[in-house]
Amino acid sequence: GAAELGPYRHYMQKEIFEQPRAIGDTLEGVTGISPELFGDDAYRIFNKIDSVLILACGTSYYAGLTAKYWIESIAGLPVNIEIASEYRYRDSVPNPNALVVTISQSGETADTLAALKHARSQDMVNTLTICNVSTSAMVRECKLSYITRAGVEVGVASTKAFTTQLTALFLLTLCLAQVRGRLTDEQEADHLKAMRHLPAAVGAVLALEPQIIAWAEEFARKENALFLGRGLHYPIALEGALKLKEISYIHAEAYPAGELKHGPLALVTQEMPVVTVAPNDALIEKLKSNIQEVRARGGQLYVFADADSHIAPSEGVHVIRLPEHYGHLSPILHVVPLQLLAYHTALARGTDVDKPRNLAKSVTVE
Ligand code: G6P
Repeated sequence: GAAELGPYRHYMQKEIFEQPRAIGDTLEGVTGISPELFGDDAYRIFNKIDSVLILACGTSYYAGLTAKYWIESIAGLPVNIEIASEYRYRDSVPNPNALVVTISQSGETADTLAALKHARSQDMVNTLTICNVSTSAMVRECKLSYITRAGVEVGVASTKAFTTQLTALFLLTLCLAQVRGRLTDEQEADHLKAMRHLPAAVGAVLALEPQIIAWAEEFARKENALFLGRGLHYPIALEGALKLKEISYIHAEAYPAGELKHGPLALVTQEMPVVTVAPNDALIEKLKSNIQEVRARGGQLYVFADADSHIAPSEGVHVIRLPEHYGHLSPILHVVPLQLLAYHTALARGTDVDKPRNLAKSVTVE
């Protein structure tokens, strides 16, 4: 009811603004990196696995896709990730030494539960879940678990569950790295410090809301949008496009920016807003030339850049700067303005933000 919403108009907005608290709670009690965070048997299991298989749906799948980049680069373990409903219905090659990781806000999604059972029926018994509901079927079915502390999420479009999943997945990455001898004490301390600063850093990003509202007014008049990201931020572009589709009903697609020239560039006209996730990482120079490719076709760019990046606003290039550059954890910051953009665009279009047409919060049918 209205009392629960406080100053917010919708649960989605409230849940976006709860993210500093949700991430802080998810990290509560974490005083160091240790496999036991995932269960008593975690060290033994982490020690014998040779790869990771991630299974999830929807927004949870994009959290998993982000984790693939982290786990491969920081822990040095190969990661496969599959959409749960695809995995369970195809013939794949089982690897009993893989760690099977399911990611689910509700812990009740039928496709993800069925994918888990499918993996187990093929002798893949090392199972772990990142889940927001401690009493769910998913937690009961998996040997290891990490409970995110997002709290009840009401909005159908997932927000705080996503950033807390990423937080837990980063912890998992560090534990796997540690067991494999790839995490020095100094690195552990640095990562923990960065994680503890996340609530404040996300809070600072939330303060960009007024600038994002101005962009949303323009987006509300469009019927299509393209989202670009590279590397670790490609899954964030996918999540941004999903948020916009789900609640504003604007057709949105996400591409890794380097793939533009292999197809989507044909769609770019003056009518096409192109949202670009542009953190100041190793790919920034490549991304700048992708931006030029869009500009040359008249496309309107909406760039989320970092504070110290050299992307300047110019004709057709709109820039919002995030307060700080955040290294590995940057996806957790960069998704927040995309959530706000989708929310305010939907608001301007007058759609039912918390209950978008045809969608359900938890899909317990196959
Ligand atoms: C539904 C929801 C999405 C969610 C997906 C997976 O489609 O509308 O927001 O990402 O299910 O749900 P889960 O509970 O497994 O994370």
